[in-house]
This record gives sequence, C-alpha cells and structure tokens, in this order.
Amino acid sequence: MMRLRPFGATGLWVTPLGLGLAALGRPGYINLGHAADLNGEYDIAAMRDHTHRVLDEARRLGVRYFDAARSYGRAEEFLGSWLAEREIPLSEVTVGSKWGYTYTADWQVEADKHEVKDHSLPVLQRQWQETQANLNGYLGLYQVHSATLDSGVLDNQAVLSELARLKGEGIVIGLTLSGANQAEVLRRGLDVQVDGRRIFDAVQATWNLLEPSVGPALSEARLAGMGIIIKEALANGRLTPRNPDPAFAGQLNRLQQEADRLSTTVDALALAAALAQPWADVVLSGAAVVEQVRSNAAAVEVQWDDEAAAQLAGLAETPTEYWTKRSQLAWN
Ligand SMILES: NC(=O)c1ccc[n+]([C@@H]2O[C@H](COP(=O)([O-])OP(=O)(O)OC[C@H]3O[C@@H](n4cnc5c(N)ncnc54)[C@H](OP(=O)(O)O)[C@@H]3O)[C@@H](O)[C@H]2O)c1
Repeated sequence: MMRLRPFGATGLWVTPLGLGLAALGRPGYINLGHAADLNGEYDIAAMRDHTHRVLDEARRLGVRYFDAARSYGRAEEFLGSWLAEREIPLSEVTVGSKWGYTYTADWQVEADKHEVKDHSLPVLQRQWQETQANLNGYLGLYQVHSATLDSGVLDNQAVLSELARLKGEGIVIGLTLSGANQAEVLRRGLDVQVDGRRIFDAVQATWNLLEPSVGPALSEARLAGMGIIIKEALANGRLTPRNPDPAFAGQLNRLQQEADRLSTTVDALALAAALAQPWADVVLSGAAVVEQVRSNAAAVEVQWDDEAAAQLAGLAETPTEYWTKRSQLAWN
C-alpha cells in the first residue's frame, strides 16, 4: 500500500504517506499534546535519538517522503544525520525542506517569538546554504514556507530569479500555504513565471475534515502537473481523541463511530480522508512519537467510502473559524 508514485510531473517519487518533522526538531510546537509527547526530554542528543527512532519506524513502515524546514529547530540536522548514519541511498527517499522562517526560540518551549518570517533574497541565500549543509545532497524539493500575498514573495523578482536558478540546478521548487486564502495564493502561484517558465511545481497545503476549502484549487494545481502535499490532516491533533474541547465532543463521537465502522482509529480515519482525495500525492504524518507514526500509517489500509465522506462532511468549519482557532493554539 506504500507503493511509490510520481510526485505530479516533477520527476520525483513519493509514497502516499510522508513524515513531517515540525514536532520533532525543537522543544516547542503548537500540536495539542506536544509537551506530553516529549515528556521533558529536551536534551539535544536525546531529541536527536528520539527523532531517529521515529524516522526508523516510518522507514520500516514504508514511508519515503520526509519534510523539514529551516524553522523547525534542528529538524534538518536530525534528518541529515539519520540519512547519513543509516547510509540511506539517495534514490530511496525524497526529501523536502522550506526556507523563509528563521528559528528564534533558542531551544526553549516558551519564547517571545518562535520563528521570524522574512521572504527576502538574503534569507533565501543564507538558508539555502544552511539547508545544503544539513541535508548534504539529499534535498529534492525546496519550498517557500507559508507564501502569502502580503509577504510579497510572489512578486519579488530577485527571489523568483534565484528560485529559477535553483530550479535550473535540478531542485523542484514549491510553495506551502497557510491561512483562510490558501486557494487564492495557490492560483496566483500557478501563474508565476520567470522567462516564460513556471517556477512552482509543487504545493503543500492544509486540507482536513475541518478545513477542506482549498480542495478545488488543489485539483486545478494537480491537473497543471504540480505535486501535491497535504499537511495538518489531523488539524494539529484536534482530529484525535486527545482534543479536550468539550464543544468538540459531538464531532469526536461522530469520528469515533465512523472509525469503529471501518475498524480503525480516529487519527487513521482522518488521514484516510486526505489520502482519498484524488489529487493528493503525499499526506504528511506529523507524528511526534513512534506509536503515533504506527497508528497514522494504518491510514493507507483504511477502506474510505462514500458513507464515511457523507457522515463526516458536516465537520467542516468556515475557513475563518478554522484559522482563528489554529492561531490560538498554544506553543507547548
Ligand atoms: N506552513 C507549512 O509549511 C507547514 C505548517 C504546518 C505543518 N507543516 C508540515 O506538515 C507536517 C504535519 O503537520 P502537523 O504536525 O500539524 O500534522 P497533523 O497531522 O495535523 O498533527 C500531528 C499531531 O497529531 C497528533 N497525533 C498524531 N497521531 C496521533 C494519535 N495516534 N493519537 C493522538 N494524537 C495524535 C500529534 O499531536 P499531539 O500528540 O501533540 O497532540 C501529532 O503531532 C509537519 O511536520 C510539517 O512538515 C507545514
């Protein structure tokens, strides 16, 4: 079930499930139970070993796409050392990372600012060198981290020319999306060209049962040959039994009933909803511990059906409601 498939028309190959390292590379993150997952083990060597164990399990389960970012603390370093120490052949995996946010939390769970966004040319040039050093030849996909219209990145000719140069060196260039207007940014991104050639050949977007609004735009992007990655399929843990919000208990009950009917777990069911989208090339697991990656990987076996789609369609929130709640998630 974890068979390799083409990543759009990019020439890269991916598996239906990928592993993202946002919850693994630093002490603080916004996923609901992050502090409990890490259990106070913030020693750098311990976090590196823990990340390697999660990566080992993902690899054992057949995962072949791995996703990092410059702002995920030491995620690139941890991924790079795992690839090197396990002597994983370049041809076995596809590795993506992102530039545009700088990690500023200084290995603390609580910080005034965890990451600073800057989509300028100097940041791209600096972070490209850092990413290359960390991932040592494994990088296949480099993404603009959370491209938005107001960051100006889609109109910045100096940045676009540098991205075109990297594309000329064989790196697939992508953009990731965040916020209520993901579809609008993606449609703009599809039109961005340098010397008559499209720059962005891949997109990473949030799609889940609570926030499916970008779906039609992703379908268009897929038809145009882009590779499509789905992130936050569990809504940062809100689509798991760990969600403590009493106002969500009814929705959780509905999810559990469908999970029971399909003989699976709520997390695997919610990931299966994303895997069932015809335009989805890779759905990311954001597992923070080995048990979660195992449970998440079961999603590829779930027999998602029309009944599940009909029963769960009503979970969708308005994009504004969804992104407001996301912005209120606490770093922990
Ligand atoms: N703008 C961007 O480009 C961007 C933004 C966000 C994410 N991403 C990428 O997408 C990846 C996935 O994002 P995400 O971590 O937000 O994904 P997610 O799938 O929405 O959430 C993952 C979280 O769900 C919880 N979970 C998973 N399995 C569980 C289980 N069996 N039982 C209970 N809880 C479970 C865990 O959180 P707790 O245990 O902490 O509750 C886990 O950290 C990231 O690693 C990153 O690579 C990119």
